[in-house]
Amino acid sequence: MNKPTGANGSRSGFWGAAFFFLLFLSGCGEPPRSCDWLASLPDTEMKRKVVVGCTPCHPMGLPVAFRYNAAAWNEQYLKMKKLDDELELKLIPFQYDMELPNWLGSNSRLPSKGFEIKTAKADIKEFPLGQPKGFYHDMALAGGRAWIADYFGNVLYGINPETGATEQYPIPADVAKDKPAGAHAIDVDENGILWICLTKAEQVARFDPQTKTFQIFSGYPKGGNVQYFVLDKDRFIYHDKEGCFWTTHFSKEILCRTNPKTGKITVFKVKHREGMEEATIHLYAAVADSKGKLWFTETHGNRLGWLDPTTGKSNLLDIFISWAGPKRLAIDDEDRLWIPQLASGVITLFDARHEVKLKDLQLPIPGDYVYCIRRDRFSGNLWATGCGSDSLYRIDPKTQQFTVFRLPRRGAYTRTTAFDGKGNVWTNYASIPNSQTLTPYQAGCIVRITPKE
Ligand code: HEC
Repeated sequence: MNKPTGANGSRSGFWGAAFFFLLFLSGCGEPPRSCDWLASLPDTEMKRKVVVGCTPCHPMGLPVAFRYNAAAWNEQYLKMKKLDDELELKLIPFQYDMELPNWLGSNSRLPSKGFEIKTAKADIKEFPLGQPKGFYHDMALAGGRAWIADYFGNVLYGINPETGATEQYPIPADVAKDKPAGAHAIDVDENGILWICLTKAEQVARFDPQTKTFQIFSGYPKGGNVQYFVLDKDRFIYHDKEGCFWTTHFSKEILCRTNPKTGKITVFKVKHREGMEEATIHLYAAVADSKGKLWFTETHGNRLGWLDPTTGKSNLLDIFISWAGPKRLAIDDEDRLWIPQLASGVITLFDARHEVKLKDLQLPIPGDYVYCIRRDRFSGNLWATGCGSDSLYRIDPKTQQFTVFRLPRRGAYTRTTAFDGKGNVWTNYASIPNSQTLTPYQAGCIVRITPKE
C-alpha cells in the first residue's frame, strides 16, 4: 500500500501557482473556483457544450484546467481529443478543431473572486488510498470498509475507517496486462455485496467483502461499455422480481438484465434518439420506480427515457434545453425523479407516476455543475455533488431547500455519495487525472462528512 506522502506543489505546476496567486489576491473572501469561471462565460449553448464535453473527467477552468489564448487552448484541446479517441468515449462534441479553442480564447477570463454563500458546519476527514496515478470514479460502503477501485490499475482498495487498516484486491477482469478494465460504477446491494461495472473489460464484478472473493459476469454486447447499475430509491442495486440486476451501456441504446444465478444476459433495445449516432448518445444513469419501470438519462442525447421490462416498450422524453446533460439521477419514495442537469445549473424534479415535470430547482451557486444525486435512505435527504464549487449540497425533499457543505480542497470533484446510517455522508475525489484535485496526497482519497448543526 502506498502511504500518503508530503506536499505535492509541483504536480499542478504553473497553473496551480497562478491559482494560488489569485487566491492570495482575493484576500479573505472566497477564492475563485471552477463554477466562478463558468459563471463568467457567456450563457449560451456553447457554454453548456463545454460543461457536457469537458467536465466528465475533471473540473474546467479552475483550479488548473485553464489557458490564456486560443492557441494554448488548442494545444490542450488536441491532447484531450486524442485521449477521448483512445478511450473510445466520444465525450467531446465539437464540430471542428478550432471551434472550442477560439470561443474560449475570446471569452475565458480568470475570475478574481469567488461566489460567497453561507455553508454548514461539518467535521470532514479524508482517507487517502490507492496508487497516485490511479483514477477512482466512485466509492461505496460495504462490510465495514469504504471502497474505491482504480479504473486503469484494476485494483479494488478498501479502508477500515475505524482502524485505518487498508486492503487491496486485484480485479480478475478479462483484459490484457496493463490495459484498463475500466472500474466505473461501484455500488452495493441489500446484502452488503459490492458490485463494479468494468466498462472497458465489458464485464461486471461481484465482490463479497466477507469472503474477499470475486465473481465475474461476462457476455455483454461488444463495444457497449458496461457503465452503470440501475439503482432503487434506497440507493441499492435494483433487483427485479426474478432477482435480476440491470446495467446501462455507455455506447449503446440498450439496457441489460443479468440473472446472477445463471449468468444469463437479456438485452433490451430502447427507442433510438433521432438525429444522433448511437455511440455519441451516452445512455448513462438509471433508476427503477416502485412498479419496476426503469428511468434513464441520455447525457449527450439530452433525453429522459423509460423502459417497461414487462412489455419491452420504451420512450424518450424531450424535456430539457439543448445540451443540458442530464446525468446521475435519483428516485425517492414517492417515485419522484431528481435529475441533475449537468450543464444548466438546474435539478429537474419529475413525477414518474404521472409522467410530468414538477419543477426545475436552481442551484444556489451560479456556474456550478452537479454530476450526481443520491438519496440517503436513512434520512430521506437528497445529496448532490457540486463539482464546480468544491461542495456537496443536501436537499430537503419536502422544502427543497439546499444546504451547502464545502469540501476542504480546490478542485474537489465528486461523482457519488454514500451513507452509513450514523449521520455521515461519504464521497471521494474523482477527477482524472486525480492531481486536478489539489490535495497533499499522492493517492486517491475517500472523504467522510459529518454534519454538525
Ligand atoms: C477523457 C477524459 C478527459 C476529457 C473528456 C477532457 N480532459 Fe482535459 N485532461 C484530462 C487528463 C487525463 C489531463 C492530464 C493530462 C494532460 O494534460 O495531457 C487533462 C488536462 C487538461 C488541462 C491541463 C491542466 C493542467 O494541469 O495544466 C486542460 C487545460 C484541459 N485538460 C482542458 C480540457 C478541455 C478544454 C476539455 C474539453 C474539450 C477536456 N479537458 C476534456 C482528461 C480529460
